[in-house]
Amino acid sequence: MIIIILFNYVQPKFVYSFTKIFIMGNIVNSEPYQWKDEYTVNITVIDEQHKKFLSIINDLKLIINGKSCKEKVSDIFFQLAYLIDYYFLKEEIYFNDLKYPNFDHHKKQHNLFIDRVIQFQKDLENNKPDLCLEIYQYLENWFDEHILKYDKEAVEYLKNGGVK
Ligand SMILES: [Fe+2]
Repeated sequence: MIIIILFNYVQPKFVYSFTKIFIMGNIVNSEPYQWKDEYTVNITVIDEQHKKFLSIINDLKLIINGKSCKEKVSDIFFQLAYLIDYYFLKEEIYFNDLKYPNFDHHKKQHNLFIDRVIQFQKDLENNKPDLCLEIYQYLENWFDEHILKYDKEAVEYLKNGGVK
């Protein structure tokens, strides 16, 4: 049995703080993540993206707990590809148009995410064990580290530039 408990000692980590990651015997907490008012940034396309992201994590929870990773993880890749193609690009267009000063760094993070997803797809081809758990942890971490920090910080700049 594998037991991994990661506690959050750094403020603020919203996703970790309301459930903490708790994985026991390759099962994750089945409670779906709910959208919270504090996540809202009031830029339509960015809020849509972040809601979509939480919904992908929730779909992945079902797949993990249903022990159907191998059969169903391709749907997660499909959803991630759409998120990357549509929403990452939209964000980057805004940043570029408004000359966001941290654009290069932000884009680099998006590219690292893309590379990681490609690596996960290779891992699937190589039958890597516990792949869905690994993806799940990566996505949760991205929600806390990128969406709730970097995107939120960038949003203030976009709003000042008139984006709604
Ligand atoms: Fe971003």
